[in-house]
Amino acid sequence: MADQQLVKVTIDNISIEVPAGTTILNAARKIGGEVAPPAMCYYSKLQGSGGKCRTCLVEVSKGSEKDPRPMPKLVASCRTTVMDGMEVKNITSPKVLDMRAGVVEFLLINHPLDCPVCDQAGECHLQDLSYEHGKEGTRYEFQRRIFKKHDIGPYIQLHMTRCILCYRCVFTADQLTQKREHGVLDRGDHSEIATFIEKSLDNDFIGNVIDVCPVGALTDRTFRFKNRVWFLKPMDAHRDCPSCSGKVTLWNRGDEVYRVTARKDEWGEVEDGPDGKPAWICNTCRFDKKKTSDWVIEGPRMINRHSVISANHYQGKVGMIKPTEIFEAVHEGRKPKLLMDIHKVSEVNKPNVELSKIEGPAHAKDFRGAK
Ligand code: SF4
Ligand code: FES
Repeated sequence: MADQQLVKVTIDNISIEVPAGTTILNAARKIGGEVAPPAMCYYSKLQGSGGKCRTCLVEVSKGSEKDPRPMPKLVASCRTTVMDGMEVKNITSPKVLDMRAGVVEFLLINHPLDCPVCDQAGECHLQDLSYEHGKEGTRYEFQRRIFKKHDIGPYIQLHMTRCILCYRCVFTADQLTQKREHGVLDRGDHSEIATFIEKSLDNDFIGNVIDVCPVGALTDRTFRFKNRVWFLKPMDAHRDCPSCSGKVTLWNRGDEVYRVTARKDEWGEVEDGPDGKPAWICNTCRFDKKKTSDWVIEGPRMINRHSVISANHYQGKVGMIKPTEIFEAVHEGRKPKLLMDIHKVSEVNKPNVELSKIEGPAHAKDFRGAK
């Protein structure tokens, strides 16, 4: 909107103007790339989400132009709005990186290491987060949490031991379905996602909890143990559905449809449909339409997240972009934060030694005596 007030915020030395009221996380997502903090509980399409997992904490080194004092503690970027002149550090702050490693360790305290048998493997946000920020060992010596098994119906499998209590599924059920039957029961480390009296979650749109769950706590029972996601070929497809947008991603192997999901964007969230609203899909499209003939195939889906599924055909702004061009072109016009001449800081790379002329791998003796 033309009359919308814009404020300037600088994140990791990159400045951007955003409408007043934008959160630091959404301002960082506008810049894109690694500048955007990871978010395990915030989900832009769900009202009230965020503020639970602490993976998105950032350092505010300057509060605003009017009050430049830094904020005394790291703040949750999904819940803190930007101020004019604010300066924020994410990947440029050692404090933030240290804290993030701590949060990952904390999230993994009770999370089982069952990625080899988990259906979420390959598209699990916790797997990505641990890979990028985690440590290889654990300091936890006690028994992990165990729960009584809950049967939550024929379509959805709940593995409570994997849950990180992000509340996304609770908001989804609250905001998308007519009657909510599940929620978080109890407190502290007894907290669990459960259906209060073991009722089946049979609402028309309840399958969307599978798509919003960042880990493998809620998975599709019709797809359980049938295949690994990286062996499947994602295809965009649609059908004329009376209840939802009918725009989905089919996960095929050959002609067989193994599972149906909503289409997800580069942040792992359900994409908006042509009407500008999130294109959630109904249970019929998700669980009952498992024949290719049920769908009009649009073409291969380009995966927008840095997951094993996107290997060799990565398209999005999150994660690593292959450096095929000069820095600015790769980083969508952003200038490099720091430029240095490698020869000024390294004793090893002597410009007068031509590596291409050395037979076999270079050794110390090739550089000895070189100026
Ligand atoms: S089941 Fe999944 S979506 Fe629900 S709170 Fe647990 S981790 Fe979050
Ligand atoms: S994404 Fe901000 S606290 Fe979870």
